[in-house]
This record gives sequence, C-alpha cells and structure tokens, in this order.
Amino acid sequence: MIDVRKDFPILQAGENGAPLVYLDNGATTQKPVQVLDAIRDYYLRDNANPHRGVYELAQRATDVHEDSRARIAKFIGADASELVFTQNSSEALNLVAYSYGLNFLHAGDEILVYVAEHHSNLVPWQRVAQQTGAVLQYLYPDENGYLTEAELDKKITARTRVVAVAQVSNVLGLITPVKAIVEKAHRVGAVVMLDCAQSVPHMPVDVKALDVDFAAFSGHKLYAPMGIGGLYGRKELLKSMPPFLSGGDMISYVHEDRAAWAEAPRKFEAGTRNVGGEVGLAAAMDYMESIGWEAITAHEEALMEQTLDGLKKLPFITVYGGGTAKERKGVISFNVQDVHPHDVATILDAEGVAVRAGHHCAQPLMEYLGIGACARASFAVYNTQEDVEIFLNALKSVRRWMGLES
Ligand SMILES: Cc1ncc(COP(=O)(O)O)c(C=O)c1O
Repeated sequence: MIDVRKDFPILQAGENGAPLVYLDNGATTQKPVQVLDAIRDYYLRDNANPHRGVYELAQRATDVHEDSRARIAKFIGADASELVFTQNSSEALNLVAYSYGLNFLHAGDEILVYVAEHHSNLVPWQRVAQQTGAVLQYLYPDENGYLTEAELDKKITARTRVVAVAQVSNVLGLITPVKAIVEKAHRVGAVVMLDCAQSVPHMPVDVKALDVDFAAFSGHKLYAPMGIGGLYGRKELLKSMPPFLSGGDMISYVHEDRAAWAEAPRKFEAGTRNVGGEVGLAAAMDYMESIGWEAITAHEEALMEQTLDGLKKLPFITVYGGGTAKERKGVISFNVQDVHPHDVATILDAEGVAVRAGHHCAQPLMEYLGIGACARASFAVYNTQEDVEIFLNALKSVRRWMGLES
C-alpha cells in the first residue's frame, strides 16, 4: 500500500478529538506540500499578468502559464492548443453547452445524457434544449447499475447530436463504456462531451485514445487548488466555436463596432488567468506521476474492495451501483436502513470520519433510484486500510445512536 500521508499536513490534525478520516475526496481532495510549495514559489518568484507585459517578469509569468498548459495537456493526452483553462469542470461543461450547443443545435436535434449525470453536465444541456428546441433524451442503467450497449443502441439515433456523459459517475462510481459511446455517437455524426471530473483523479485518461470531442475536469479533485480546471476540445471544433465569455486577452483586434478573436485556446480565456492554480495543477499531476498509476490503482482498488466487502457484511446497508472494485473508481454511495444520510454523516463526523451526504448534485439519479439522498465515501491516495476500518466500525454504531438498535 502507498504511504503518502506525510505529504498532507491537514491529515496530521485531528477532527472532533479523533484522527481525521477524510472520505470526501469526490467533493475535493486535500493538497500535498509539493503542490502548496509550487504555488508559493510561483508567487514568490514569477508572479505577473501573463500575455500583457513586455518586461522580464511578465515574460516569465507567461512562460509559466504556457508551460503549465503544456504539462497539464500532456497528462490527459492532449495538445496544448486544445486545452482551455477554466475554473473547474462546471465552467468547462457550460462553455461547451453555450458555445457549441447554442450555436450548432437546432429544433428536433437530440441531446443524450445519462440519468446519473452531475447537474453540471445536465442543467446546461437543459438550458440549451429550451433555447434551441433540441430534445433532451436520457440513458438509464440496467438493474445492476450498468450502462449497456443495448441501451446505447436504443437511444443513439440519427437525430442525436450530442452525447454528454461522465466517465465515472460521482454517485455510482462505475466506469462508463466510453469506447462504445464514442463509436456509436460518431457513427451518427454526434459529438461526445466526456465529464472526467471523477475519472482523472483515479485512472489514466487519454482524450485522444478515447477519441472524445470534449472532456472536462477539475484540479481540486486531484490534489490541486480550487479555481482551476480544464476543457479539452478537438482542434477543429474549438476553431469553429464562438467565444463563451469575451473581454481582455481573447481578441486579435477590436474596433469600435466589432472585434475578431484570438485563436483557441485563448479565444475562450477572457480576463486574467489563475496562473498560481495552473502551477498547482501541473505540480499535482507531477505528484501523481511520481507515485505512478500502477501504485495508485492498486492502492485505491484495495481500499474499494475492503470497503465493499465490509459493507456487504452489514445487513442494514444498501450500496448503490453494482460492480466489483475493479469496475469502480473513487466513490461508494450507500444508505443505512431507516436513517437519513445527514444523520449518518453527522454521527460519523463525531468519530472524525468525513463523508458526504445529500443528493450529490445528481437529483434525477436520486429520483430514478427512488431515494431523496444517500451518503458517499470517496477515496484518495492518502487513505489507508485503517481509515476504512474506522469508517466501517463507526457505521456499525449509527443505528444504535439513532435508537434503532440496542
Ligand atoms: C461527475 C462530476 N461532474 C462535475 C462536477 C463539478 O465539478 P466542479 O464543482 O469542480 O465544477 C463534479 C463535482 O463533484 C462531479 O462529480
């Protein structure tokens, strides 16, 4: 098992008198000192506004900005010219919906989304449908929680123009069959918007090998700071799309009555950039590579297996989304019989265990599952087998705390 806890000072501090067992990594991860140091060094040595000054310091800031872009693009298998910096996945998904969706979709076209989508890859498409007359269609999982080829064949039709899916659901945790989706979508001329918010932290993602048209991700879910994320877009698509936001730095010239745009990706990057965040994200990716995907995967799979096995032994637990530890990434959502997930999370918190409870920004999925909410444990490289034991033990006491068992 990996042991990197020393890199994460926040994990050394306790919560509620107990050691912190942080199992809310699907919401955001903690940051290692390597990332914090890289950001600090940037602000101590290289900070200026990129692309704006001719003086030496501004040139350096510009180099840092563009070097970070190249580094981050490489991590997901993209060219630097195809990586647009955004604040997070939500902004990347909105960018595609508004710039591509509003301009290239028409009445009667179909936008296909998975019912398990995070609201960020759903609500923007609802708005596009309302404004263009396009129709929103849904993919549903089978009774075991899988998205099947039969469902894809039924729903991807000649009218489909966009398929918007997450590579890993933030509730079900299952890996989506991206290869089949891309093949079927491209066969009918549709584009694929892949939400990688929950996949990039847990598995190597190569957007070119996947052959997707767009991919979105957030830095803060992979050990980088909040406020930085990215959008991969196929070169010719980015070229054909109008800007999402406009203003400083995204133009080639401006006259009184009109303006022309810079080339992508700068066309989509209006205003001052979060260079410190970009530096942090590049450092986080270096950090992950220094651990290595093989080690990360083995470690997280072992935690997943231990948790799934432990939960199976608790008769009052329902786990959502089937699959083995190998088919899942990062998250396990569950409910405790007759206990509201907010109570579950509060009782676990009293023992220093942080899990998320609520609808997880996936309300259509909650409706589909017939539940209002659930609790979710989600993992990162610094979690240990001991964390899982503490979590499982704390769960055993939840129903007793609620007066449902003695
Ligand atoms: C699958 C998925 N997509 C999108 C998002 C939105 O990410 P952000 O809040 O960083 O924009 C999340 C966040 O939890 C997510 O899990």
